[in-house]
Amino acid sequence: MRQPLIVGNWKMNGTLAGVKKLASDIVTISQGLKDPPGMAVCPPFVYIQAVAEALRGSYIEVGAQDLCEMQGEGAFTGEVSGTMLKDIGCRYVIVAHSERRHGYGETDEWVAKKFLAAYQAKVTPILCVGELLEERESGSTEQVVGRQVRSVVDAVGIDVVASSVIAYEPVWAIGTGKTATAEQAQEVHHFIRKILTQYSTSVAEGLKILYGGSMKPSNASGLLAMPDIDGGLIGGASLKADDFVGICQAACGS
Ligand code: PGA
Repeated sequence: MRQPLIVGNWKMNGTLAGVKKLASDIVTISQGLKDPPGMAVCPPFVYIQAVAEALRGSYIEVGAQDLCEMQGEGAFTGEVSGTMLKDIGCRYVIVAHSERRHGYGETDEWVAKKFLAAYQAKVTPILCVGELLEERESGSTEQVVGRQVRSVVDAVGIDVVASSVIAYEPVWAIGTGKTATAEQAQEVHHFIRKILTQYSTSVAEGLKILYGGSMKPSNASGLLAMPDIDGGLIGGASLKADDFVGICQAACGS
């Protein structure tokens, strides 16, 4: 019922020539996929258009890694609006990646504004949630993830959340090579869906929840086999065309 979705988060990596090659390699290799999942890549802002050009004619979509909470245009030096992202063809935008929450101090309130700005610009937000290692070890994973999800739903309403994607990314698993076990991830995914059910059963059933945190071809099948894991948000492994498409292969027909 929920078509799987695999999204690459390229973070602050690449050169113009390098990202164009990566995108066209992904297009070429993914031509061999049967019953492919939804696929998208999120390059750094300055390379989005070049990557969109390299992906033209394929079913792979392009997204951004962040956006400004303000709409349209204005005196916001250094910022990029959702309207601009829509204008250049972005289908998705990552909101509240843990590197933004913890490295740049994005608060729940700020995150909700960015989420709404994406929705209003008709760019699908991918809302990232996830606990730190100390939060997991102290048994507060559900409290943290619950707060991160509820703060957005309460601010923007469940109908807005209905047209988004959520990504559960345990912070301790991001870029560390330590993946949550399929069971650990499923437990939190199920918990997120349970929270959404408190607002709307149909939204809870229809919303895609991706897993992110050291997902790679070797562990993707186990994670994607879980009933509440609908795809992946991939960092490191999305920078290698073979690995990224390998993960997409694991999502084929699942
Ligand atoms: P990773 O990153 O796959 O390198 O752990 C995931 C992410 O940050 O979205």
